[in-house]
This record gives sequence, structure tokens and C-alpha cells, in this order.
Amino acid sequence: MAEITVTAEREYKVRITGDWRGDLSPFATKRSRVAVIYSATMASSMPNFSFGSAEVVTLEVPDGEAGKSSTVINYLWNKLGEKGFTRSDLIVAIGGGTVTDLAGFAAASWLRGIDWVAIPTTLAGMVDASVGGKTGINSPYGKNLIGAFHSPISVIIDPSWLSTLSDRDFTAGLAEVIKCGFIDDAQILEIIEGKDVAAIRSNGALVVNLIERSVATKAKVVSADFKESELREILNYGHTFGHAIERVSDYSIRHGEAVSIGMVFVAELAASRGLITEQVLRSHREILKAVGLPTSLANIAGSTNWDALYSAIALDKKSRGNSIRFVVLNDIGVCDRIEGVTEEELKATYERVLQ
Ligand code: GLY
Repeated sequence: MAEITVTAEREYKVRITGDWRGDLSPFATKRSRVAVIYSATMASSMPNFSFGSAEVVTLEVPDGEAGKSSTVINYLWNKLGEKGFTRSDLIVAIGGGTVTDLAGFAAASWLRGIDWVAIPTTLAGMVDASVGGKTGINSPYGKNLIGAFHSPISVIIDPSWLSTLSDRDFTAGLAEVIKCGFIDDAQILEIIEGKDVAAIRSNGALVVNLIERSVATKAKVVSADFKESELREILNYGHTFGHAIERVSDYSIRHGEAVSIGMVFVAELAASRGLITEQVLRSHREILKAVGLPTSLANIAGSTNWDALYSAIALDKKSRGNSIRFVVLNDIGVCDRIEGVTEEELKATYERVLQ
């Protein structure tokens, strides 16, 4: 269907395809060993893998953020050691963003880096996690605090996986698509505007168009700033507050749901400083609400604990020393950063997204 090139650490293609198995095969044959790492929910969809004479090791990992732990990465390292994985062997990650983050980190850390291929099966994984080479696991102190930049050698996106998703998971993935609309590609917002999730999901061509556009945004940004010296931070729009919500709710809500509230939060912050108009602020709530994403903290476990939220915000990877940084918009498609935001200002913003 489409092929988008990323140049970040290495050049690789993101293929949007109708045949993930056929597209994977050339990367896996001619290897001595291939580890296929997939999440428990994908187990029943896994075929019998065979790649020429390669020894295939299939490794199931827990679903969701629970998989991104030191226990699970240790299990993977032990399996790679037991099977004698060398620098010319391959890891294949099949699953949502948590699986590509985890398996990518196994590839990044084993022998200081071996090849891996990402096969995302969720919308969030397709448009965000699998592209750009961010790999890692969580720490008890916060999300994604342990990790490495290690690009895959290929990303294979087969939209037919999306039929396995619940409406809730599909909708959560739309948060990352809408984020690309706010930070870069306003046409994404025009395409989604006025549509609910059913109207989007039932239109396969529209879904592929949204995936292509979001991947194009991501590819452009990570190709210009692979290691997030500055530009790549824009991909974290809404994520500073979003990650904090995920942490205080003990990861009981989807990443995309937290990012949705995080985008409203940061739009409120920008509006209160006069950086964006009331109309841009309103468009955040309207477009996110229309697809069924949360725009306030109502009913989010742990979210009434401001102190816990504030500590989680302060640990964000964009913070420098004691200065908390936020990616904000000056307009749709125009990103900026603000620094030195006080706790008082943050708390006042928090109060505007409580209900
Ligand atoms: N998910 C944000 C990034 O890849 O930079």
C-alpha cells in the first residue's frame, strides 16, 4: 500500500501492507536464530513461524505495561542467552506499543544491539510506539525511565490487525493520531472532525489514510531529531501530564486516554498564558470528545491526589534540573516549549481539567 522512509540511526522503511508475514520473511530468513516476542492476547493469532533454516524461538510476554518490567526483560535476556543469540540474529516484536517497547529494548541491550523488526498490532503501536526507535521498560519511579534509542530495521504495519481491537483500544490509539494533527498535520483534524469512532473504524481507506499521515509526521520528526535533543519533544505533546495520570492511576487507563486528558491540560495551560486562542482550546475538547476520548479527570483513579500527580510530572524526561518543561502549541501545527512553570500555575490548570 505505502512505504515511508525513516532515517534515524539507520535508514529503514515503514511498510503499510496487507501481508505482514510475506513482508517479514526477507528479514528473517538467512538468520541462524529468530526470537518472535508477542503479547499474551496475540497468542491465539500467532501462526507457526518458519524462516528457512533459522531456529525460531517464540516468547510470550504479559500484556500491557505489566510486561515492561525488570522481571520480564530479565526473562527475555535469559532466553536469548540460553538459545545463544548472536549479533547476526533477529528479534521480531508482534503486539501493541508495550511489546514493541519491551522487545525493542531486548534488542537494544542484547550484545549492545541486535536487529529487530516491529510488527505493531494496535493503532497506538502503528502510529507511534513502533516508529522511531524508542525502546524501554518502566521503573517504579515512572514510565519509560529505563531505555535506549535503537531503531528497528523495518516496521511492518498490517491494518488487518486492527479488527482484533476493542472500540476502547482503537479509540485510545486515535489520541496519538489526533496529537499528530495538533502538532503538525491539521488535515488529520479536518478528516476526523465531526466523526465518531464508528464512522472512522468502518471506513478502511480513511483509517489507512490516518495511519499514513501520522506515520509521515512521526518519520519526519524522528528523522530530524532521533535522540530528542529538541524537535522530537513535540511528539510528547500531552504526554507530561498524561504519563503522570497513568502513574497515579496505576496504569488502569489506556495510554491514549491519559494523553487525551494531557492534551487538554496543556492546551489549558497555553490558553491561560495567552499562547493559543479560546477556539484552539475548544477544538481540543470537541475533537477528542467526539471520538469518545476523556477530556477531564472525572472518574480517573488516583487523580484527586495532586501531590502524587505533581511528583510524577516533575520526573518527566523533558525536565531539566528542577525546571519542568512542557510542549505547547502557539497554534495548530506550531509547537513551542515553556519552562519554569510553577506548581501554583500547574495546580490551577489541574483544577480546570478536574471535571
Ligand atoms: N512517543 C514519542 C516519541 O517517539 O518520541
